[in-house]
Amino acid sequence: MTALTLSTSSAATLRADAVVVGLAKGAKGPVVAPGAEAVETAFDGKLADVLETLGASGAEGEVTKVPGGSGLKAPVVLAVGLGEAPAEGEGYDNEALRRAAGAAARALTGTKKAAFALPVADADAVAAVSEGALLGAYSFTAYRSNNGDKKGADKSAPLADVAVLGAKPRDKAHKAAAERAQALAAEINRARDLINTPSNGLTPKTFAAEAQAAGKEYGLKVEVLDEKALKKGGYGGLMGVGQGSENPPRLVKISHTHAKAKKHLALVGKGITYDSGGISLKPAGHNETMKCDMSGAAAVFAAVVTAARLDLPVNVTGWLALAENMPSGSATRPGDVLTMYSGKTVEVLNTDAEGRLVLADAITRASEETPDAIVDVATLTGAMVLALGNRTFGIMANDDAFRTSVHEIATEVGEQSWPMPMPAELRKGMDSPVADIANMGERMGGGLVAGLFLQEFVGEGITWAHLDIAGPAFHEGAPYGYTPKGGTGSAVRTLVRLAERTAAGDLL
Ligand code: BES
Ligand code: MN
Ligand code: ZN
Repeated sequence: MTALTLSTSSAATLRADAVVVGLAKGAKGPVVAPGAEAVETAFDGKLADVLETLGASGAEGEVTKVPGGSGLKAPVVLAVGLGEAPAEGEGYDNEALRRAAGAAARALTGTKKAAFALPVADADAVAAVSEGALLGAYSFTAYRSNNGDKKGADKSAPLADVAVLGAKPRDKAHKAAAERAQALAAEINRARDLINTPSNGLTPKTFAAEAQAAGKEYGLKVEVLDEKALKKGGYGGLMGVGQGSENPPRLVKISHTHAKAKKHLALVGKGITYDSGGISLKPAGHNETMKCDMSGAAAVFAAVVTAARLDLPVNVTGWLALAENMPSGSATRPGDVLTMYSGKTVEVLNTDAEGRLVLADAITRASEETPDAIVDVATLTGAMVLALGNRTFGIMANDDAFRTSVHEIATEVGEQSWPMPMPAELRKGMDSPVADIANMGERMGGGLVAGLFLQEFVGEGITWAHLDIAGPAFHEGAPYGYTPKGGTGSAVRTLVRLAERTAAGDLL
């Protein structure tokens, strides 16, 4: 994990391998953003001109490197684009800072230490730069054969050491922001590792073991139901999805409790360690990235551990619904009827609509503890990706005000999301001639149909929201900002802020 320090040292004298400065698009060409004054002085006030000559414009994500020159300790200045300069008297947007710091950290792969001389006007900006740098300094190397004892510098190692300049280590708010960023980024990177781990390296059983290990390390209570306990307990959804696989299902309960907690938040994550579709097998072209189908469970896991690491005065229970969806002689067939943990019966019309089945059982189980709210997170439907694209998750809820709050919180922490409706008329499409409900309905509005299915399993009177992260959970394009290729850790920041708001008493 990349180290993070706050420093009031000058960018000119601090010992580092690179200094990062911000470059914004001004009315008359690129302008160096505040925070880099010492670097500008070292360039006789001509840094923006030099960068413009090299073709830099200040566009978001643009990276330009120049030699440090005689007035600087660092041998390299890296200018990172911040996009449009803010209007007179306004500060830089925190997400722009987060992305710029991430892009800079990625461009500094193989570098040991970098000083970030970006505009940090307040503790929120310190948090954004810290988060962006730590999230950008990520790589998944567990499955490379050459990541062992290489001689000399490892050119593919993430940036090792981040110093945020202009942030005061003795300022309580700045210090808290940095500590929060460190815990949060470490857990998001843990979620990314889990998502990136191929399905032959992560099964329901080994995922549960990861939860137990983290629980031990950070003082969380972890309880695991194995396939025997699930069968005995009547978890027909989890068993029905998992019974075709050699790797049997698990339900993990991971709880953070706090003596001063007044509220209880339950988080439920879809944890399909591989989604082949089951007997309703996915065709080639649709199954290569389905190791990512446990991203919801990874996000929930990361958020609960973060809540513990930050010692948040709120009880947060994570429920990880883990199963592998495989076809075999023991697999659930299309047309089979499952008796769910709630007692409801479900006709499985399509075994590829498995996420809602495992989530339903976990949501029913979570409801038994009557939490103040349940939030589930899932790579649930391709339909949500068609609706919102690859970077935005959909939010559905049984409470308009709560849905609005979740959307606002996501926006505040820099996660793209959009509120989605729950049209009541779509329910009848799931009417079954043999069971209480079918696991599929109309094709149109498929993401909303899935939400309506889940709602049926939420305990009476419990506030509930559903985040469909099928789009943003796994990034297949080129990296950008702090977002790498592969697992992104989508929804973790939203869940953590949700827990913080609940702890503060201004939500639920
Ligand atoms: N895991 C998939 C959804 C998904 C699609 C996640 C693309 C990430 C990227 C889910 O289990 C699934 O297969 N859903 C089906 C539901 C349908 C059969 C009703 C879908 O969306 O096609
Ligand atoms: Mn599926
Ligand atoms: Zn799935």
